[in-house]
Amino acid sequence: MRLDKYLADCGAGTRSEIKKLIRGGAVSVSGIEKPRPETQIAPETAEVFLFGTRLAYREFVYLLLNKPAGYVSATWDAKLPTVLDLVPEEYLHFEPFPVGRLDIDTEGLCLITNDGKLAHRLLSPNRHIPKTYEAEIAGCVTEEDQAAFKKGVVLDDGYQTKPAELTILSSGEVSHIQLTIYEGKFHQVKRMFESVGKRVTYLKRIAMNQLVLDETMQTGEIRELGKEELALLEGE
Ligand code: URA
Repeated sequence: MRLDKYLADCGAGTRSEIKKLIRGGAVSVSGIEKPRPETQIAPETAEVFLFGTRLAYREFVYLLLNKPAGYVSATWDAKLPTVLDLVPEEYLHFEPFPVGRLDIDTEGLCLITNDGKLAHRLLSPNRHIPKTYEAEIAGCVTEEDQAAFKKGVVLDDGYQTKPAELTILSSGEVSHIQLTIYEGKFHQVKRMFESVGKRVTYLKRIAMNQLVLDETMQTGEIRELGKEELALLEGE
């Protein structure tokens, strides 16, 4: 691996800042006389120092975004802004991607990482990872809806959903609910409510597995996940 890439992965700065640091002599590598940005090193074994402090290499980055409406859950879109537009530049070289898809108008917990294995574990249909949503519903949500969701409802394409837990926070002309589902079909929450004749007017994901969205995060805010948070995401 190139030395400048290694330093970028360690969070030492942008590629151009790093080049300056290396050329300015701030970086030393055991066994290498005059390291240059393109110097090849072995990431697992190299001893790299920045201003005399040994760096710890990391391969993966885990970012928690409180997704705002108006952003597509993808790494690229021809017309619309994507969640990648909200990722600070210093993380982009990791080539992160959003885990799963929130609709453009859905807000809340969005994990962005370059750890493909974790993404696979979280999205695998065999694992039944819980995802909890908070929603505003046009129409009166009832105990019958709760019972129907518990049994599983039939979506517009004939798919029968797995048991889901519906909590009614308030019901009236407009209702507020929480819904935990254990699968992730396209537009699932919206289609589940359509199946009982109601419409979702606001949707926010508030939890994935044991990880609950940090409510102190503003909409659009993004930060790295802590170690404990990562363990909660893994369900540990
Ligand atoms: N269900 C939906 O309908 N939309 C989302 O964005 C997530 C779950």
